[in-house]
Amino acid sequence: RKITTLVATAAVSAMIFAGSALAAPITIKFSHVVAENTPKGIAANKFRDLVAERMPDKVVVEVFPSSQLFDDDQVLQAMQLGDVQLAAPALSKFGRYTKQLDLYDLPFLFKDMNAVEKFQKSDKGMELLKSLESKGFVGLGYLHNGLKQLSSNKALRVPGDAAGQKFRIMTSDVLAAQFQAVNAIPLKKPFSEVFTLLQTKAIDGQENTWSNIYSQKYHEVQPYITESNHGVLDYMVITSTEFWNGLPDDVRTEVKKALDEAITYGNQIAGDKDTEARAKVVESKRSEIIELTPEERAQWVEAMKPVWKQFEDTIGKDMIDAAYAANN
Ligand code: LMR
Repeated sequence: RKITTLVATAAVSAMIFAGSALAAPITIKFSHVVAENTPKGIAANKFRDLVAERMPDKVVVEVFPSSQLFDDDQVLQAMQLGDVQLAAPALSKFGRYTKQLDLYDLPFLFKDMNAVEKFQKSDKGMELLKSLESKGFVGLGYLHNGLKQLSSNKALRVPGDAAGQKFRIMTSDVLAAQFQAVNAIPLKKPFSEVFTLLQTKAIDGQENTWSNIYSQKYHEVQPYITESNHGVLDYMVITSTEFWNGLPDDVRTEVKKALDEAITYGNQIAGDKDTEARAKVVESKRSEIIELTPEERAQWVEAMKPVWKQFEDTIGKDMIDAAYAANN
């Protein structure tokens, strides 16, 4: 009798345990490197909040900003190992996995973010979203930041001013070629190290968007910012194929819907965040903003544009032409 009771109790506990294990929500860790008050930070938090509102028992999104969990050069590997489920690295950071995305780093390719958006919505833009499939990643969407500016400890008005200067770049061979084209020295460094490198003068300058410059306080350690708008900083939101395909169908559909909405929201506010951050840098009076004359800008274009030819074979001329055509 005693034994029967014990067995029955054990069976009931096992059932309760199994039941609660089944009901445990799926955790999605979203790792990124920027501050929360940037387009990517805002979109990531929006996604977390939408999921919490709509499917609290099924999925929990945990956002890790400011490289708290991984740097961008670690995050893709961590994703393949299942240590993180979602990330949105800059398109410049996929070089180890594909050369196709090099397109986005070509200097002076897109005149504004509308052109970027138009290209990304085209067939060719959508094709690039799939460029990591063979490596075990699913491209879930493009997320915007904005156009990049050049900051330095020296006033940069014409390409010759950058000669011999050390610039931090993201891990992209195109960006390396872009700085070599003006006889500068590019150094590939993680985002989390840039402020200290600038502050200690281990490097002379860097390129980034207004929201990153402001939120990372680069303007406090860089006396000059040239408003060059010479390149784009955009992201791909990715997950691993294994994780994505392993989700129950209904969960995957709902998660994708929330993510699409968060991406659309992030892309809507990116322009405002850019303008707002620029205004705050101006207001701070810490850094002088150099606006280029059309003649000065033309010199940068002329010096950097040969980079397109250098990468034409790996990127594909048809791809470059299609992206350039989005400016019209
Ligand atoms: C950078 O490394 O400069 C950027 O990729 C940071 C970011 O994610 O915006």
